Amino acid sequence: MTEEKVTHSLDAQDSAIDDVAAGAPKKKKKPRKPFSKRAKIICTVIAVVIVAGGIGMWKWHEMPSFCSTLCHIEETYVNNLSQEQGVAGVDKYGNTVTNSNAMMAVLHSKTQTTAKPEIVCVDCHVPNMLELAHDGVNYVTGNYTIPRNERTASQLEEWDKKEGSQFCANENCHVYLLGNDGLVSPEKLAAATADMAFNPHEQHHANLNPDCTACHKGHRASTIVCTACHQHQDVALPDGWVNWDASQQIMVTAFNG
Ligand code: HEC
Ligand code: HEC
Ligand code: HEC
Repeated sequence: MTEEKVTHSLDAQDSAIDDVAAGAPKKKKKPRKPFSKRAKIICTVIAVVIVAGGIGMWKWHEMPSFCSTLCHIEETYVNNLSQEQGVAGVDKYGNTVTNSNAMMAVLHSKTQTTAKPEIVCVDCHVPNMLELAHDGVNYVTGNYTIPRNERTASQLEEWDKKEGSQFCANENCHVYLLGNDGLVSPEKLAAATADMAFNPHEQHHANLNPDCTACHKGHRASTIVCTACHQHQDVALPDGWVNWDASQQIMVTAFNG
C-alpha cells in the first residue's frame, strides 16, 4: 500500500465516524483525493496568474478608457470627462457649455481640494458588481437608449442602498460634509456656500429636498433648481451654469429632438 492510499482510507473512515456521531444515516462518501504535487504546482501557477491579472485589470479598470473599451456607449462620457477645465465645453448631448467647470465631471477631473488630485469615473461611480452585471446584460441585449436616460444621484446609489447625497460624499470626495449620521449635514453644506448672497444650500422649504444632482449635473451644465421660482437678481448663477428653464429646455431638446 502506498502512503497515498492509507490517507484515503483514513479519510473515509474519519468521515464515516463523523456521520455516525452526528446521527446521520451511513452513506458512501467519495473519498477526497489529495492533490498530487504536480496539481499543486499547476494550481499555484494559475492562482498567481489570476491574482496578477486581477491587479492589472483593477488598475486598468480605474482608467476612464476601461469604461469605453468595455462598452462603447460610455465614450460620450469619457470625452465629456476629458475636456479642458474652465473653458467653453460640450455636454453629453452635444450642447455648448460656456464654462466646462459647470459640469461636475470636468470640474472634478483635476481637483484642487478633494482627497484625490485626479477624479476618474469610478471615484464618483463607485462600482457595484451587481449593477455592472445588470448593465452588462442590458448592453449585450441592446436594452438601452441613446441618449441614455439621465440618472439622479439617488438612482445612482440605488444598487448600494445609499442616499443620493452619498454619491457626492463617498469616501473619495466630500466626506468632510458628513454629519454623525453618515449623511451630508445640511448645516455643514450651508456653511460651505454661506458667502453667496442667495445660498443655494440653505432653504426653508420643508417639502423641497433636492438631490445634489438637481443642481450639480455630472455631464451637462449645472443649474439652480430654486430659479424655477426665485428669479430675482440675488440668485447669481456661477459661470457656465444655466437657470431652471434653460435646464429643462436642454432635456426636452435632447429627448424630443
Ligand atoms: C464628478 C463625478 C462624476 C464623474 C467623475 C463621472 N460622472 Fe458620470 N455621472 C455623474 C452624475 C452626477 C451623473 C448624473 C447625471 C448628470 O448629472 O449628468 C452621472 C451620470 C452618468 C451616467 C448615467 C447616464 C446619465 O446621463 O445620467 C453614465 C453612463 C455616466 N455618468 C458615465 C460616466 C463615465 C463613463 C465617467 C468617466 C469617463 C463618468 N461618468 C465620470 C457624475 C460623475
Ligand atoms: C439648489 C441647488 C443646489 C443643490 C441642491 C446642491 N448644491 Fe452644492 N452648490 C450649488 C451652487 C450654486 C454652488 C456654488 C458653485 C460655484 O460657485 O461654482 C454649490 C457649491 C457646492 C460646493 C462647493 C462649496 C465650496 O466650498 O466652494 C460643494 C462641495 C457642494 N456644492 C456640494 C453639494 C452637495 C454634496 C449637495 C447635495 C447634498 C449639494 N451641493 C446640493 C447648488 C446646489
Ligand atoms: C416652487 C417654488 C419655489 C422653489 C422651487 C424654491 N422656493 Fe424659496 N420661496 C418660494 C416662495 C413662494 C417663498 C416665499 C416668498 C418669498 O420670500 O419670495 C420662498 C422663500 C424663500 C426664502 C426666504 C424664506 C425665509 O424663510 O426666510 C429663502 C431663503 C428661499 N426661499 C430659498 C430657496 C432655495 C435655496 C431654494 C432652492 C433650493 C428655493 N427657495 C426653492 C418658492 C420657492
